[in-house]
Amino acid sequence: MTIKRVRAHHLAQMKAAGTPITMLTSYDAITTRIFDEAGTDMLLVGDSYANVMLGFDSTTQVGIEEMVLATGAVARVAKRAFVVADLPFGSYETSPADAVANAVKLIRAGASAVKLEGGVRMAPTIEAIVRAGINVVAHIGYTPQSENALGGPRVQGRGDGADQVRKDAVAVAEAGAIAVVLELVPAPIATEITQDLAIPTIGIGAGEHTDGQVLVWTDMAGMTNWQPSFVKVFGEVGQELKKAAEAYNTAVRARTFPDDQHRFDQ
Ligand code: KIV
Repeated sequence: MTIKRVRAHHLAQMKAAGTPITMLTSYDAITTRIFDEAGTDMLLVGDSYANVMLGFDSTTQVGIEEMVLATGAVARVAKRAFVVADLPFGSYETSPADAVANAVKLIRAGASAVKLEGGVRMAPTIEAIVRAGINVVAHIGYTPQSENALGGPRVQGRGDGADQVRKDAVAVAEAGAIAVVLELVPAPIATEITQDLAIPTIGIGAGEHTDGQVLVWTDMAGMTNWQPSFVKVFGEVGQELKKAAEAYNTAVRARTFPDDQHRFDQ
Protein backbone atom coordinates (compact mmCIF):
# COMPACT_ATOMS: atom_id res chain seq x y z
CA MET A 1 0.00 0.00 0.00
CA THR A 2 1.54 3.36 -1.03
CA ILE A 3 0.37 6.13 1.28
CA LYS A 4 1.15 9.79 0.55
CA ARG A 5 0.04 10.97 3.95
CA VAL A 6 -0.86 8.52 6.71
CA ARG A 7 -4.32 9.12 8.12
CA ALA A 8 -6.40 7.32 10.75
CA HIS A 9 -8.18 5.12 8.20
CA HIS A 10 -4.82 3.94 6.83
CA LEU A 11 -3.92 2.61 10.27
CA ALA A 12 -7.13 0.56 10.29
CA GLN A 13 -6.38 -0.65 6.74
CA MET A 14 -2.86 -1.65 7.78
CA LYS A 15 -4.23 -3.71 10.64
CA ALA A 16 -6.72 -5.39 8.32
CA ALA A 17 -3.97 -6.14 5.79
CA GLY A 18 -1.56 -7.40 8.45
CA THR A 19 0.95 -4.65 7.54
CA PRO A 20 3.05 -3.76 10.61
CA ILE A 21 2.77 -0.12 11.69
CA THR A 22 5.99 1.69 12.65
CA MET A 23 6.05 4.47 15.22
CA LEU A 24 8.94 6.44 16.73
CA THR A 25 8.99 9.30 19.15
CA SER A 26 10.08 12.66 17.75
CA TYR A 27 10.35 16.00 19.49
CA ASP A 28 11.84 18.48 17.03
CA ALA A 29 12.05 19.47 13.38
CA ILE A 30 15.48 18.06 12.57
CA THR A 31 14.85 14.45 13.60
CA THR A 32 11.28 14.55 12.29
CA ARG A 33 12.55 15.25 8.78
CA ILE A 34 14.84 12.20 9.01
CA PHE A 35 12.20 9.83 10.44
CA ASP A 36 9.57 11.06 7.98
CA GLU A 37 11.88 10.59 4.99
CA ALA A 38 12.70 7.10 6.37
CA GLY A 39 9.01 6.22 5.94
CA THR A 40 8.03 5.95 9.62
CA ASP A 41 4.24 5.63 9.69
CA MET A 42 3.55 7.41 12.98
CA LEU A 43 5.53 9.98 14.95
CA LEU A 44 4.77 10.38 18.62
CA VAL A 45 5.50 13.67 20.31
CA GLY A 46 5.69 11.76 23.57
CA ASP A 47 5.86 13.27 27.01
CA SER A 48 9.15 11.36 27.20
CA TYR A 49 10.25 14.75 25.80
CA ALA A 50 10.64 15.60 29.51
CA ASN A 51 13.31 12.96 30.14
CA VAL A 52 14.83 12.63 26.68
CA MET A 53 15.20 16.26 25.65
CA LEU A 54 14.69 18.42 28.74
CA GLY A 55 16.71 16.41 31.29
CA PHE A 56 13.91 15.80 33.79
CA ASP A 57 13.70 12.42 35.51
CA SER A 58 9.96 11.95 34.96
CA THR A 59 7.44 12.43 32.16
CA THR A 60 5.22 14.24 34.66
CA GLN A 61 7.47 17.31 34.46
CA VAL A 62 6.26 18.66 31.09
CA GLY A 63 3.12 20.72 30.69
CA ILE A 64 0.82 21.55 27.81
CA GLU A 65 2.86 24.61 26.73
CA GLU A 66 6.02 22.56 26.17
CA MET A 67 4.04 19.84 24.38
CA VAL A 68 2.40 22.41 22.09
CA LEU A 69 5.82 23.81 21.16
CA ALA A 70 7.30 20.37 20.40
CA THR A 71 4.17 19.26 18.52
CA GLY A 72 4.35 22.33 16.29
CA ALA A 73 8.00 21.61 15.45
CA VAL A 74 7.19 18.01 14.48
CA ALA A 75 3.94 18.75 12.64
CA ARG A 76 5.46 21.55 10.54
CA VAL A 77 8.03 19.15 9.09
CA ALA A 78 6.25 15.76 8.87
CA LYS A 79 4.98 15.31 5.32
CA ARG A 80 3.83 11.68 5.42
CA ALA A 81 3.80 10.48 9.02
CA PHE A 82 0.70 10.55 11.23
CA VAL A 83 1.60 12.83 14.14
CA VAL A 84 0.33 11.90 17.60
CA ALA A 85 0.89 14.26 20.54
CA ASP A 86 0.78 13.25 24.20
CA LEU A 87 -1.60 15.01 26.52
CA PRO A 88 0.79 15.61 29.43
CA PHE A 89 0.18 14.74 33.07
CA GLY A 90 -2.32 17.11 34.63
CA SER A 91 -3.82 18.26 31.34
CA TYR A 92 -6.71 15.78 31.08
CA GLU A 93 -7.36 14.02 34.40
CA THR A 94 -9.18 16.94 36.02
CA SER A 95 -12.27 16.77 33.76
CA PRO A 96 -13.35 15.77 30.25
CA ALA A 97 -13.80 19.50 29.51
CA ASP A 98 -10.15 20.22 30.42
CA ALA A 99 -9.11 17.24 28.31
CA VAL A 100 -10.99 18.56 25.27
CA ALA A 101 -9.58 22.09 25.74
CA ASN A 102 -6.00 20.79 25.90
CA ALA A 103 -6.52 18.31 23.05
CA VAL A 104 -7.67 21.27 20.93
CA LYS A 105 -4.34 23.03 21.66
CA LEU A 106 -2.35 20.03 20.40
CA ILE A 107 -4.51 19.70 17.28
CA ARG A 108 -4.09 23.44 16.61
CA ALA A 109 -0.34 22.89 16.89
CA GLY A 110 -0.66 20.38 14.04
CA ALA A 111 -1.16 16.93 15.62
CA SER A 112 -3.43 14.43 13.87
CA ALA A 113 -4.31 12.73 17.15
CA VAL A 114 -3.73 13.04 20.87
CA LYS A 115 -2.64 10.25 23.21
CA LEU A 116 -3.60 9.83 26.83
CA GLU A 117 -2.88 7.23 29.47
CA GLY A 118 -5.51 5.08 31.14
CA GLY A 119 -8.13 2.46 30.27
CA VAL A 120 -11.56 2.00 31.86
CA ARG A 121 -11.12 5.08 34.09
CA MET A 122 -10.38 7.31 31.07
CA ALA A 123 -13.14 5.98 28.79
CA PRO A 124 -15.53 8.93 29.44
CA THR A 125 -12.67 11.36 28.72
CA ILE A 126 -11.81 9.58 25.47
CA GLU A 127 -15.50 9.73 24.48
CA ALA A 128 -15.58 13.49 25.13
CA ILE A 129 -12.47 14.15 23.03
CA VAL A 130 -13.76 11.93 20.21
CA ARG A 131 -17.10 13.78 20.32
CA ALA A 132 -15.12 16.99 19.73
CA GLY A 133 -13.91 15.47 16.45
CA ILE A 134 -10.41 14.65 17.65
CA ASN A 135 -8.62 11.32 17.12
CA VAL A 136 -7.48 9.65 20.32
CA VAL A 137 -4.75 7.05 20.77
CA ALA A 138 -5.03 5.34 24.16
CA HIS A 139 -2.10 4.07 26.23
CA ILE A 140 -2.59 1.17 28.67
CA GLY A 141 -0.50 -1.41 30.52
CA TYR A 142 2.40 0.43 32.14
CA THR A 143 1.50 4.12 32.04
CA PRO A 144 4.58 6.24 32.91
CA GLN A 145 2.58 9.25 34.13
CA SER A 146 1.32 7.01 37.00
CA GLU A 147 4.81 5.72 37.79
CA ASN A 148 4.51 6.61 41.48
CA ALA A 149 1.18 4.81 41.88
CA LEU A 150 2.41 1.80 39.89
CA GLY A 151 5.70 1.50 41.78
CA GLY A 152 7.96 2.26 38.79
CA PRO A 153 8.31 0.61 35.37
CA ARG A 154 7.00 -2.93 35.71
CA VAL A 155 5.05 -5.35 33.56
CA GLN A 156 1.30 -4.89 33.91
CA GLY A 157 -1.15 -7.67 33.27
CA ARG A 158 0.58 -10.63 34.89
CA GLY A 159 -1.71 -13.08 36.75
CA ASP A 160 -4.87 -11.38 38.00
CA GLY A 161 -3.79 -8.11 36.36
CA ALA A 162 -4.39 -9.63 32.92
CA ASP A 163 -8.11 -9.19 33.23
CA GLN A 164 -7.75 -5.47 34.01
CA VAL A 165 -5.57 -4.93 30.94
CA ARG A 166 -8.12 -6.77 28.77
CA LYS A 167 -10.95 -4.63 30.21
CA ASP A 168 -8.89 -1.46 29.63
CA ALA A 169 -8.32 -2.43 25.99
CA VAL A 170 -12.02 -3.08 25.34
CA ALA A 171 -13.03 0.13 27.16
CA VAL A 172 -10.76 2.43 25.13
CA ALA A 173 -11.80 0.79 21.85
CA GLU A 174 -15.50 1.15 22.74
CA ALA A 175 -14.89 4.79 23.74
CA GLY A 176 -13.71 5.49 20.20
CA ALA A 177 -9.89 5.40 20.34
CA ILE A 178 -8.36 4.85 16.89
CA ALA A 179 -5.40 2.84 18.27
CA VAL A 180 -3.98 1.73 21.59
CA VAL A 181 -0.40 1.62 22.86
CA LEU A 182 0.31 -1.47 24.98
CA GLU A 183 3.35 -0.83 27.18
CA LEU A 184 5.05 -3.58 29.20
CA VAL A 185 2.21 -6.06 28.71
CA PRO A 186 3.06 -9.80 28.62
CA ALA A 187 3.30 -10.92 24.98
CA PRO A 188 0.49 -13.54 25.19
CA ILE A 189 -1.95 -10.94 26.61
CA ALA A 190 -0.88 -8.35 24.00
CA THR A 191 -1.40 -10.97 21.27
CA GLU A 192 -4.87 -11.83 22.56
CA ILE A 193 -5.86 -8.15 22.77
CA THR A 194 -4.52 -7.56 19.24
CA GLN A 195 -6.68 -10.42 17.93
CA ASP A 196 -9.77 -9.28 19.82
CA LEU A 197 -9.72 -5.53 19.07
CA ALA A 198 -10.81 -3.96 15.79
CA ILE A 199 -8.39 -1.03 16.35
CA PRO A 200 -4.59 -1.35 15.89
CA THR A 201 -2.39 -2.12 18.88
CA ILE A 202 1.07 -0.54 19.05
CA GLY A 203 3.41 -2.38 21.38
CA ILE A 204 6.40 -1.31 23.44
CA GLY A 205 7.82 -4.15 25.45
CA ALA A 206 4.72 -6.17 24.53
CA GLY A 207 6.14 -8.83 22.20
CA GLU A 208 6.13 -9.23 18.44
CA HIS A 209 2.43 -9.85 17.68
CA THR A 210 0.99 -6.36 18.14
CA ASP A 211 -0.12 -4.52 14.98
CA GLY A 212 2.73 -2.05 15.32
CA GLN A 213 5.75 -1.17 17.42
CA VAL A 214 6.88 2.08 19.03
CA LEU A 215 10.25 2.99 20.51
CA VAL A 216 11.76 6.12 21.96
CA TRP A 217 14.05 7.20 19.12
CA THR A 218 17.09 7.95 21.28
CA ASP A 219 16.97 4.38 22.63
CA MET A 220 16.81 2.71 19.22
CA ALA A 221 19.51 5.00 17.74
CA GLY A 222 22.11 4.41 20.44
CA MET A 223 21.95 7.91 21.92
CA THR A 224 21.78 6.68 25.51
CA ASN A 225 24.13 4.65 27.69
CA TRP A 226 21.33 2.41 28.95
CA GLN A 227 18.25 0.99 27.25
CA PRO A 228 15.45 -1.21 28.59
CA SER A 229 15.90 -4.92 27.70
CA PHE A 230 13.16 -4.80 25.02
CA VAL A 231 14.99 -2.12 23.02
CA LYS A 232 17.19 -3.01 20.06
CA VAL A 233 19.84 -0.47 19.05
CA PHE A 234 19.50 -0.09 15.26
CA GLY A 235 22.34 2.39 14.81
CA GLU A 236 25.15 3.91 16.89
CA VAL A 237 24.16 7.49 16.12
CA GLY A 238 25.37 8.78 19.47
CA GLN A 239 28.89 7.47 18.86
CA GLU A 240 28.93 8.91 15.32
CA LEU A 241 27.82 12.30 16.63
CA LYS A 242 30.51 12.22 19.31
CA LYS A 243 33.12 11.35 16.67
CA ALA A 244 31.95 14.30 14.53
CA ALA A 245 32.17 16.68 17.51
CA GLU A 246 35.65 15.37 18.42
CA ALA A 247 36.86 15.78 14.83
CA TYR A 248 35.50 19.34 14.74
CA ASN A 249 37.16 20.22 18.07
CA THR A 250 40.47 18.79 16.86
CA ALA A 251 40.30 20.67 13.53
CA VAL A 252 39.46 24.02 15.15
CA ARG A 253 42.24 23.62 17.74
CA ALA A 254 44.72 22.66 15.00
CA ARG A 255 43.52 25.58 12.81
CA THR A 256 42.89 23.12 9.94
CA PHE A 257 39.26 24.34 9.85
CA PRO A 258 38.18 26.63 8.20
CA ASP A 259 40.37 25.82 5.19
CA ASP A 260 40.40 26.98 1.55
CA GLN A 261 37.39 24.80 0.64
CA HIS A 262 35.26 26.13 3.48
CA ARG A 263 35.28 29.89 3.29
CA PHE A 264 32.43 32.30 2.84
CA ASP A 265 33.27 34.10 -0.39
CA GLN A 266 33.20 37.83 0.19
O1 KIV B 1 6.13 9.38 25.74
C1 KIV B 1 6.49 8.34 25.19
O2 KIV B 1 7.63 8.20 24.72
C2 KIV B 1 5.54 7.23 25.11
C3 KIV B 1 6.04 5.94 24.55
C4 KIV B 1 6.82 5.21 25.57
C5 KIV B 1 4.93 5.09 24.01
O3 KIV B 1 4.43 7.36 25.53
